[in-house]
Amino acid sequence: MIVKPRIRGFICTTAHPAGCAASVREQISRVEPFPDGPRRALVVGGSGGYGLASRIVAAFGAGAGTLGVSFEKAPRRNKTATAGWYNNAAFEDAAAARGLYARTLDGDAYSDEMKARAVDEIRASLEQIDLFVYSLASPVRQHPRTGVLHRSAIKPLGEAFHVKSLNQDTGVVDEVSLEPATDAETAGTVAVMGGEDWEFWMDALSEAGVLAPGFKTVAFTYIGSELTWPIYWEATLGKAKEDLDRAAGAIRQRLSGLGGDARVAVLKAVVTQASSAIPVVPLYLALLFRVMKSAGNHEDCLAHIDRLFRTALYSDAPPPFDEAGRIRMDDRELSEPVQAEVNRRWPVVSTDNVAELADLDGIRDDFLRIFGFGVDGVDYDADVDPAAGRGPSE
Ligand SMILES: NC(=O)c1ccc[n+]([C@@H]2O[C@H](COP(=O)([O-])OP(=O)(O)OC[C@H]3O[C@@H](n4cnc5c(N)ncnc54)[C@H](O)[C@@H]3O)[C@@H](O)[C@H]2O)c1
Repeated sequence: MIVKPRIRGFICTTAHPAGCAASVREQISRVEPFPDGPRRALVVGGSGGYGLASRIVAAFGAGAGTLGVSFEKAPRRNKTATAGWYNNAAFEDAAAARGLYARTLDGDAYSDEMKARAVDEIRASLEQIDLFVYSLASPVRQHPRTGVLHRSAIKPLGEAFHVKSLNQDTGVVDEVSLEPATDAETAGTVAVMGGEDWEFWMDALSEAGVLAPGFKTVAFTYIGSELTWPIYWEATLGKAKEDLDRAAGAIRQRLSGLGGDARVAVLKAVVTQASSAIPVVPLYLALLFRVMKSAGNHEDCLAHIDRLFRTALYSDAPPPFDEAGRIRMDDRELSEPVQAEVNRRWPVVSTDNVAELADLDGIRDDFLRIFGFGVDGVDYDADVDPAAGRGPSE
């Protein structure tokens, strides 16, 4: 079949097998080797966005064997797989070609079963791990102990929020009104995107004795600036991320006997499946990208994670901690000149001038690339079998 993008709101329901594979290979080609990185890593949420970038940097920068966990859909007759499924397959092929261990477990990372499978696989292959990257982004979580299905809600707190918004498909800038979350919606968001599941993973890994001395774990957060606070940091998602900070402190204490460490890293805003679903964010991203690209300090997922590993997680220099003990990698996004320029453009941006003031093409290209479209060297008119080639190991 000829695979074309089919966009529904903030999701693309098709993915291009050759395009996803080419995008993974392109990211791998940009990683320079570095000597003192992780040797054996578990990456939960490793099939896309920041998790995939972490897996690529660990494997192809530091030569680590990697176990990935993700929730992706295999291809069915006349229906493509999800992008992450093709990414996992391409990652495993490239790792095998380099002689690196790589295996992927596909299924629900929130379940106790998946944690047990990961422990079994680590025991059978890597024996122990020295890095655990927790990079899940999900709208739902079935709680493994209570069976309750929690849903996250992306909503402001307290009062309705009226704000500019960009439809990145049509390029129309208009106003949206976002109703405040109920207490139950806020609690649901904390249950899905907060720190409890990270702690459950750590319980399973430490009880199984698979943590190597000097083990590190990192989970990702976003803080952003005053433009996004009402829908992120001071909203339901921010409450979940505060809970992630709580969990980091609790895990850190438990790891001290092992000489280990647990940190939350504050990352910059990028285009991923998860961030595209957040109102306000596409317009903010489009303005931010235009400003950061002109300032020459723009980074995509891979470049940003590469800097995290090299300058903070595996560096002799002290990491850039903030007062809460988080690793701050969002310094460039939040720098005064960048934020001042984004803030200057925000009130004046409209449908008429968005292509000029903001990087509409850049965010559209990044969005399509997530699904394997618009990648250099791929023939998009060629007939492809959506199920061709080997799938990832699970
Ligand atoms: N995108 C941004 O701008 C941004 C900025 C800062 C921090 N972050 C954080 O980075 C983390 C990763 O986000 P992303 O934007 O890379 O997301 P993403 O949508 O690109 O990737 C999410 C990953 O989670 C996996 N996943 C989802 N539900 C799962 C489940 N039940 N079981 C197993 N795997 C599951 C997916 O398969 C995928 O691998 C999140 O904590 C997010 O808040 C993102």
